Amino acid sequence: MLTSGCAGKQHTDQRARELAIKVCCADLFIEVFAAGIGILSESFILVVTTKKDKKTTRGGKGMLQKKDVLNLDGKVAVITGAASGIGLAASQLLTAHGATVVMLDVNAEKGASEAEAMRREGREAVFFSCDVASRKACEETVQAVDERFGRIDVLFNNAGVTYRKTVVELEEDEWDRVVDVTLKGAFLMSKYVIPLMERNGGGSIINTGSGWGLKGGDQAAAYCAAKGGLVNLTRGMAIDHGPANIRVNSINPGDTDTAMLREEGRQLGMEEASFLVDSAKGRPLERLGTPEDVANTVLFLASDLSQWISGAALVVDGGGIA
Ligand SMILES: NC(=O)c1ccc[n+]([C@@H]2O[C@H](COP(=O)([O-])OP(=O)(O)OC[C@H]3O[C@@H](n4cnc5c(N)ncnc54)[C@H](O)[C@@H]3O)[C@@H](O)[C@H]2O)c1
Repeated sequence: MLTSGCAGKQHTDQRARELAIKVCCADLFIEVFAAGIGILSESFILVVTTKKDKKTTRGGKGMLQKKDVLNLDGKVAVITGAASGIGLAASQLLTAHGATVVMLDVNAEKGASEAEAMRREGREAVFFSCDVASRKACEETVQAVDERFGRIDVLFNNAGVTYRKTVVELEEDEWDRVVDVTLKGAFLMSKYVIPLMERNGGGSIINTGSGWGLKGGDQAAAYCAAKGGLVNLTRGMAIDHGPANIRVNSINPGDTDTAMLREEGRQLGMEEASFLVDSAKGRPLERLGTPEDVANTVLFLASDLSQWISGAALVVDGGGIA
């Protein structure tokens, strides 16, 4: 401790007291200097020590303490579209960092077996069947999570579907499905989760947008509309719920090798291998993304490492739209 060296020193005359003060100052300087070196060489975060003005000091000024900034011990994360691809990779990564993950998906068989596989490895994962396009399902699922775990710290709105069609080709029910799952699902889940986060002092919401939520793409009219809406819904929610210490960000992947991407190739009538090669072309990093590439950004935004990031649209695409 900074003052421990001073406490035991007894000095009888004034000169000795002055000397002791100098020694203490030197000790203090050395300790502060050493702490500075430590800060440079290891990961530290700012921890608030004053409770006087929570809003203005939260995450800001305070003592520097060493902490594992990616540790999610004690946190509960809800992930939609968790049975496959990016949602599954995020479930695996967040449980590996100590979170309890509630995996939601319409594919109950795969979701349940993936959650069970994680539990066998000693991780905390449970699966609930939930169609995020259904208001009732979202409300009941969030209620069930609250009853079981009593909190939700992270919400990853990730479920999405697409039809590779222009507005002329799209049927009305296809438009509705894409928008209902991809955009309305994030609204519904957030609607029921945010009050829990407020009750528990805050949280992090991460929405899976897309490069095609930031720029247009071909033969994906409903998807471009839904993802563009989701990216801007993210910004609106960040403004509305920041004062409750809820951060809201979007991650925007480029082509990532998942079941959805391969299905898109089929919808376009392309041979799978050449579709994947074509999808990787033109990216500065010259490859497709992996679900793990994207999951890493979810961990970052779920963790304290990103505690002053909100309303951001983080692009994760190997430089594709640079
Ligand atoms: N793969 C890519 O190239 C890419 C690029 C940009 C954005 N994205 C987005 O990433 C997200 C995840 O997609 P992915 O690539 O991992 O695909 P994926 O097909 O592997 O996973 C999507 C999951 O969502 C689930 N799902 C579908 N409808 C649902 C519903 N109504 N309720 C709950 N779950 C539902 C599916 O069952 C599936 O498990 C999507 O939002 C997608 O738009 C993907």
